[in-house]
Amino acid sequence: MKKKIALIHGDGIGPEIVNSAVRVLDAVAEKYNHEFIYENAPMGGNAIDAYGEPLPETSIKTCLASDSVLLGAVGGKKWDDLPGYARPEAGLLGIRKALKLYANLRPAKLFPQVADRSPLRKDIVDKGFDMVIVRELTGGIYFGERGTRHGKFGREGFDTECYSEIEIERIARVAFELAQKRRGILTSIDKANVLESSRLWRYAVHEVAADYPDVTVNDMLVDNAAMQLVKDPSQFDVIVTSNMFGDILSDLSSMLTGSIGLLPSASTNDTLLGLYEPIHGSAPDLSPDVANPIATILSAAMMLRYSFDMETEAENIELAVEKTLSDGYRTADLYDEGKIICSTTAITNAIIERI
Ligand code: IPM
Ligand code: MG
Repeated sequence: MKKKIALIHGDGIGPEIVNSAVRVLDAVAEKYNHEFIYENAPMGGNAIDAYGEPLPETSIKTCLASDSVLLGAVGGKKWDDLPGYARPEAGLLGIRKALKLYANLRPAKLFPQVADRSPLRKDIVDKGFDMVIVRELTGGIYFGERGTRHGKFGREGFDTECYSEIEIERIARVAFELAQKRRGILTSIDKANVLESSRLWRYAVHEVAADYPDVTVNDMLVDNAAMQLVKDPSQFDVIVTSNMFGDILSDLSSMLTGSIGLLPSASTNDTLLGLYEPIHGSAPDLSPDVANPIATILSAAMMLRYSFDMETEAENIELAVEKTLSDGYRTADLYDEGKIICSTTAITNAIIERI
């Protein structure tokens, strides 16, 4: 198969980890006789420096004309003082919106090889966990009405959480369908004891539930969910939640696995064009060739699975990563005594050898 992949390298460690994933993709292409053609789509701080804006129109066009998009990470101190609309992160939100990527899938699975890196107590970790957070990505407080104004007590800033029933229903369907393919348990996370938008969320999720009688749905308040994730993550299969709750809980869940450097994500819509990115940030303070590229490499595997329907190839990458970890290769974030310490390049080589 021939596929066009847009590459958004981004800032900080972004270029390094994307290059690692591209090398792995090339190894897969060679083994299975595919052709992957790459085109760069600048976004983030580097695009601000080169073009004066975080998401140039040409980058959106490049992404739209591709079969899928692979993204590193954006942002850095250099651009921290810019106003919201001009920051690197605005580029990320912009591309999600432009591609209508409303469904963000963030798996958090414990790799037994690095289970002792988890900050959780051993008896909790021993139960293992394997969940997917389905985060709504183009609505909610990230995109609601916002601004600064003059209020009763002087200047105030505001952001609005707003969800339409249609937005909730479509993300709920993605989550129900995923739960059907997994263990059939869906936890919908909200703050329905306080927020009107959450009460509608709960109602709409239950409306959709009628179409999926084989899935068990539980509602959970977000504060309790944070506690339950730490207390017993094994209880979760699929989680569905809003943009902001999903942002927060996915960082929490990723750390339970031992390192945020391991977790991939897929942002999808109703077409096959998706955007795949690690869930971690651009880590601008990290020295060169130190970053863990595994989250980005696993994001490339998700791309093969969801956008290109290449299940065997995706599993090949995932097994190669697991084998690399089993064989003791570790980047600095996961390093433990007795293991083989690796640079970004070295661990990528080890993974490619196992493809
Ligand atoms: C994420 C990130 C982004 C988000 C930021 C960088 C805008 O934290 O993908 O989780 O909040 O969505
Ligand atoms: Mg986040």
